[in-house]
Amino acid sequence: MTRLADMPETILRDILNAGAQAPSGGNSQPWRFEAHDRTALSVWMLPDKDHAILNYRHRGTLLAHGVLIETLVIAARHHGYRAIVSTLPCRDQPTLTARLRFEPDLGAERDDRLYTAIWTRCTNRKPYRTEPLAPASAAALAGVAREPGIDLGFTTDAAGITTLAEAASTSERVMFENRALHRLFFDELVWTDDEARQRRSGLQIDTLEMQPAQRLALRVFRQFPLMRVLNRFGMAASIARANARSYTCCSLYAAIGCGRRDIDLVSAGRTLARLWLTAESLGLSLHLQTGVNFLWQRATDGADDLFSPEHVALIERHYQSIRDVTALPSELIPLLCRIGHGGEPGARSLKQLPEVSGLAPVSGGVTFLPIHR
Ligand SMILES: Cc1cc2nc3c(=O)[nH]c(=O)nc-3n(C[C@H](O)[C@H](O)[C@H](O)COP(=O)(O)O)c2cc1C
Repeated sequence: MTRLADMPETILRDILNAGAQAPSGGNSQPWRFEAHDRTALSVWMLPDKDHAILNYRHRGTLLAHGVLIETLVIAARHHGYRAIVSTLPCRDQPTLTARLRFEPDLGAERDDRLYTAIWTRCTNRKPYRTEPLAPASAAALAGVAREPGIDLGFTTDAAGITTLAEAASTSERVMFENRALHRLFFDELVWTDDEARQRRSGLQIDTLEMQPAQRLALRVFRQFPLMRVLNRFGMAASIARANARSYTCCSLYAAIGCGRRDIDLVSAGRTLARLWLTAESLGLSLHLQTGVNFLWQRATDGADDLFSPEHVALIERHYQSIRDVTALPSELIPLLCRIGHGGEPGARSLKQLPEVSGLAPVSGGVTFLPIHR
């Protein structure tokens, strides 16, 4: 067997660096990498880093890995390499999500647009401008290539957007009313810049785009017994209503429809990566909203009694309204994101240096040096 030429290490590091910019639930970055002779890469899940409740059956992690894998592929293509991807290659190694083998592909078109977007892509939770997209932008989003078995649809009418925005905000209501979810949310929250720089994971408060009064209130809401008293007067429901109003501020909602197998979640993530990076390259913002979807999967599975019957009914009602508006085939689960002109976000999440084995540490004992940010 002829051995492939090793990829220059600077290129492999840039590809890994690009992958490390991928989104993940609560910015948990649940992955590690293994380099093989600089011709191949294994991608491993670290699902315990992800949200213990929302990451139902590791599906959040698998979705994030799909985005990560596609980001690696796009970065490799930019550097003149084709990445041959085997997804979930081993049954007996369920945390191995992909193997990528790199082959020089100098004839391939460089994908600079999407590659450049990798470094600026972020979750923008601001209200966006409420206006239709330019036809060329709408056509570019509609033309995003879907992975096999993945559906992608768009909702542009005001009534549909309002219904989806209300449904998306349901998870915030449940989060402020359910003790376990409430605790996990506050565990994920990063309050100060210093803590953000130290942790380089978790939900940085500045990325939540809150007004000063809302931030102050959040400190009070940290105490669940107090929150419970406030909820008797409808506080959680009122937060969700305010969020829903903000979520209606967008040009459209996209729904990615995927099946329930692990491979479907990875495929959905790869499609999401293309959608997100295409949106970014068009100067558009994107806000992924998976909460109610993952709550619905958990609440209707019957595996635990984490949710009150009232919450199960609320989640089911709003999940059904998502189904009605998006009209995806019944076997597909809809993953929502809103898209539009959001402008610059108030803050961007910091990322950890990727954990890589199989590469010699660079000077100073750091395995990896970011070169773009
Ligand atoms: C599987 C998954 C689920 C997510 N769900 C939500 C969500 O429901 N609401 C939200 O505001 N952000 C959601 N996000 C966005 C993450 O919070 C975000 O990617 C992370 O904080 C890192 O920030 P970045 O996207 O700016 O890099 C999700 C991301 C992933 C990958």
